Amino acid sequence: MKVYKSISSLIKKVREVKKQGYKIGLVPTMGFLHKGHMSLIRKARKDTDYIIVSIFVNPAQFGPKEDLKRYPVDLKRDFMLCEREGVDIIFTPEAKEMYPNGYATYVNVEKITDTLCGASRPGHFRGVSTVVAKLFNITMPDIAYFGRKDAQQAIIIKRMTEDLNMGVKIKVMPIVREKDGLAMSSRNVYLNRKERCRSQSICKSLKSAKELFNSGERESKKIINKIKRVIDNQPDTKIDYVAIVDTKDLKDIKRISGEALVAVAVWIGKTRLIDNIILN
Ligand code: PAF
Repeated sequence: MKVYKSISSLIKKVREVKKQGYKIGLVPTMGFLHKGHMSLIRKARKDTDYIIVSIFVNPAQFGPKEDLKRYPVDLKRDFMLCEREGVDIIFTPEAKEMYPNGYATYVNVEKITDTLCGASRPGHFRGVSTVVAKLFNITMPDIAYFGRKDAQQAIIIKRMTEDLNMGVKIKVMPIVREKDGLAMSSRNVYLNRKERCRSQSICKSLKSAKELFNSGERESKKIINKIKRVIDNQPDTKIDYVAIVDTKDLKDIKRISGEALVAVAVWIGKTRLIDNIILN
């Protein structure tokens, strides 16, 4: 496994790899890897010949009051985990390598970025699509892997890839959960013991939504209210949003007839967590 920090040296290497006819799999991450990331790397290992994992805490996707400065980092551990999974290259550039002085180009996917997390985190998805487009240009992957926990992100990246004819296949892998159901996230490390316990209400609320749906309920409002009740039952939790939306255009669905994404964002103390399920 080799670690690259320089874009130009990585591009040179990627060109060689492509010349040899290898299929490249890219797993973009912000590091502090967990089992969710590992599932993406393992899938890439199955599908492709050459795996690149990027580790970059992308400043462009954090708002001024967000957690950029305290985002968890443990590169030594990340390298060890990647090595163990047979990753070929880690790309971990400095911010000034990705956004040098004079940087002025951003990718903005419209409409589907205005809702859900996009509404609460203005500019977030502009930062995500920009960095992902740059990572695609640098690593030239055949397939790129994303987790379904960030469902809106995956939908936006698919849209961008299609709209800009990027020729990269996007694979979205299932959410990996802790034993108690909490969706794996690097941000879970922010939770203290009490908050960790309260955070279980998120997954519980989605389970109860699924039960309600399975018992025949199709009115989104009733399912959303059920979710809110389960989460509000816990102290120190603040719902950012609960929504039931179409899985392609992310528009609100009043009555579920096809596939629907049930997405939630909740503040547990000072930590904002997201989770979702698909109802079909
Ligand atoms: O999901 C993430 O970790 C990030 O948003 C991504 C896709 C690596 C872009 O910085």
